Amino acid sequence: MFLLIILNAILLRYSIVMASDKSLNIFFLLVYDACFSVKGLRQKSHNHNFLNYLTSSHPMVATLYSAPDKAGHFGSFGGKFIPETLVKNAADLELEYIKAKNDPLFHSELNLLLRDYVGRPTPLYHAGRLSSNLGGAQIYLKREDLCHTGAHKINNALGQVLLARRMGKKRVIAETGAGQHGVATATVCALFDLNCIVYMGEEDIRRQAPNVARMKLLGAEVRAVSSGSKTLKDATSEAIRDWMNNPEETFYIIGSVVGMHPYPMIVRDFQAVIGQETRSQIIAQAGRLPDVITACVGGGSNAVGMFYEFLKDAPPIELVGVEAAGEGLQGRHAASLTLGKTGVLHGAMTKLLQNEDGQVEEAHSISAGLDYPGVGPEHCYLQELGLVTYTSTTDREALTALKTLAATEGIICALESAHAIHYAITRAPKMTKESIIVVNLSGRGDKDMETIIRELSL
Ligand SMILES: Cc1ncc(COP(=O)(O)O)c(C=O)c1O
Repeated sequence: MFLLIILNAILLRYSIVMASDKSLNIFFLLVYDACFSVKGLRQKSHNHNFLNYLTSSHPMVATLYSAPDKAGHFGSFGGKFIPETLVKNAADLELEYIKAKNDPLFHSELNLLLRDYVGRPTPLYHAGRLSSNLGGAQIYLKREDLCHTGAHKINNALGQVLLARRMGKKRVIAETGAGQHGVATATVCALFDLNCIVYMGEEDIRRQAPNVARMKLLGAEVRAVSSGSKTLKDATSEAIRDWMNNPEETFYIIGSVVGMHPYPMIVRDFQAVIGQETRSQIIAQAGRLPDVITACVGGGSNAVGMFYEFLKDAPPIELVGVEAAGEGLQGRHAASLTLGKTGVLHGAMTKLLQNEDGQVEEAHSISAGLDYPGVGPEHCYLQELGLVTYTSTTDREALTALKTLAATEGIICALESAHAIHYAITRAPKMTKESIIVVNLSGRGDKDMETIIRELSL
């Protein structure tokens, strides 16, 4: 009976790697894995994590999670809800992306730039003083704030600008909220000598003035958007409108895992480097995988970039996305996954804040990068599948967390990232000292200094 169970487990797992050319090696690993599973010994042990690490580098031992489908659906979310004038643009982009994905030259150029221009791999830093002050889990920070331009946004902007160049586009447009994606896009356009226009809501222009100046210095034109809430949603709508009107010469570099297919997939793939690096770094430093991984969620690109690599782990690592609860969930907030309803925003089926009549409601967060009434469709699907849980942090809690991190570790993080830091600060004391939490520190706080000075009366 025992042998039968083992055989069964092996066959089940072997079926995942049938198409593999290295399947014999993997097969032996899986025999080992299956034995441990059946004997109930497969705890969160070093051995188990080492096995995951070994198999993770093998493309065919992939997670059973595979989304989106060919039409860009993440379950019932995602897709392409677009006017006819955009159909060709989206199809051309998808075709070029698939070609690039299969082109080793594309990857070698991107990887070289990620290393020498962006500064990857970014460090994984053990926040020892913060952890010991909290008296619980060990907190590690994935330092995306140390990327060139100060946030994770450059990973994606660089990947997309290479696609623009392959497609022979000379004019690049982008939307931005916190200004980080705008700065990243202006930067790569300067690097590749491309004409760059960034749409930005008037409210965001006011609260992210340093980034507006940076974009201008980099040669970009910043177009103020005065419609709606004058924030990221309206800037995105304006950028899509521009793309519709100028389909031939324009490449739209979208800044998060939002919008119509293929954008959520493309942006996720370009940001997945965050999780891939984190996996090998935490194993090298702590000898095992973390217990909890957390990241803030605006559109959701830094979070999915971190989580994607870990969706394959079984038993699962706890993945926690942190939305902006703004003034509190009873007041104005931006918690679309927590309180939103299903609907279409910017070309995708997703969860968004809307009123009884289906009108999009204004979001609010102290951090411009989280101030968006929708969210990437993949997050809706991950929530539905129970693979990621989502919680929220208020403006006040984020500010307090930012202050704590600055005082204990000498790191001033972005207000967006402070939402995830707050989650780690509240979670760590409830865990043992041997436990590990990884926080994706998505950006640095320079851009937020004006808000921080005002809110903390410095
Ligand atoms: C530093 C930082 N973190 C997080 C975000 C939120 O975006 P996303 O959810 O796509 O990572 C932004 C957006 O501008 C940002 O600037």
